[in-house]
Amino acid sequence: MDGYRVNKGEDFMDHSGFPTFPDGCTSLLKKHLTDTVWAALKDLKTASGYTLADLIRSGLEHPESSVGVYAGDAESYTLFAPLLTPIIDDYHGSSVSHPASDFSLSTLPQLSRDASDRIVSTRVRVGRNLAGFPLGPAISASERLDVARRIQAALTHLPEALQGTYLPLSVMDDALRDDLVARHLLFKSEDRFLTSAGIMRDWPEARGLFLSRDETFSVWVNEEDQLRIIALKKGGDMTAVFRRLAKGVSALSRHLVFLTHPQLGSLTSCPTNLGTAMRASVHMTLTGLARDEAALKKSAEALGLQVRGMHGEHSQSQGGVYDISNRMRLGVTETEAFSHLIHGINRLAQRDQGMSRP
Ligand code: ADP
Ligand code: ARG
Repeated sequence: MDGYRVNKGEDFMDHSGFPTFPDGCTSLLKKHLTDTVWAALKDLKTASGYTLADLIRSGLEHPESSVGVYAGDAESYTLFAPLLTPIIDDYHGSSVSHPASDFSLSTLPQLSRDASDRIVSTRVRVGRNLAGFPLGPAISASERLDVARRIQAALTHLPEALQGTYLPLSVMDDALRDDLVARHLLFKSEDRFLTSAGIMRDWPEARGLFLSRDETFSVWVNEEDQLRIIALKKGGDMTAVFRRLAKGVSALSRHLVFLTHPQLGSLTSCPTNLGTAMRASVHMTLTGLARDEAALKKSAEALGLQVRGMHGEHSQSQGGVYDISNRMRLGVTETEAFSHLIHGINRLAQRDQGMSRP
């Protein structure tokens, strides 16, 4: 859908209370919320009080959503499975048991010279949440504070090369915040999808950014997920960034117990991030392919890649530079997803080269 229209209150229910979606809505929520599923789930509530209405609120208020649901807790994934399983299968491919985490470097393919020359910067992030707490949409203010304190304590145990400073959002001045966002180091303070899901409640309390001294390792605290563990570096040394991220994840997992599921891997508030919860991306100059952005998105999609703009999700490209990342995160290891990205980037660089010839 072009633009967006916020559905409010009675707007999106028919006389029986079944949600309705405007024409043109292509969300996975609309596709998989049949009346049978609705009837089976509408009166259920998880132990933390999360209901079907909570689960689907973001997708109803924003019919331009591509997915439209956020889980409130681990139990949401079992209690609301008749809706979430088809959504997960649709996004990630049919359900498979998620493999054990594997960040090994030995099988990574070679990045071509042509691709490497086009890469402005490389970033790899994983989402994590803490076992024993609800996810962002259902967490209370005091639980969120407890989560932030535990993460801060774990951060003090990082190896020397990753050490840095924790910057709480509640005391950060606007100029610093804007600068960190502009330099891709900090999350934005508004997101209409997250707001509708209840994730932005009590903002900016208990939110923060941990930044290593050299600014190449960071942890976002209590944004869409309780942790986003991130490695980010200028240039195309993709292996070095992947290795740095793996080091940070491994160090933190020695001091925190992350929320996992036997089939779904790491549990995250948005089902697109389940499994590895990893989005590895490069900012890449594709001036030839940029001449037809729709075609670029189509060929990236066929390669299992996602195209975003210069400031992440829902932003535009600038100067022919695109954010190219792995789309699939569940049912593959981190190394497999990263290898897939490298292969795809090599192909895109090759095609761009062809398009750039006079
Ligand atoms: P996420 O990756 O955490 O799901 P976003 O797509 O919103 O969410 O990206 C978060 C931030 O990371 C944005 O500022 C985005 O521009 C930045 N980013 C993503 N990939 C890269 C990259 N390869 N180089 C520099 N910044 C990046
Ligand atoms: N809820 C939004 C939608 O359905 C975002 C989905 C994926 N992105 C994310 N940051 N979880 O379009």
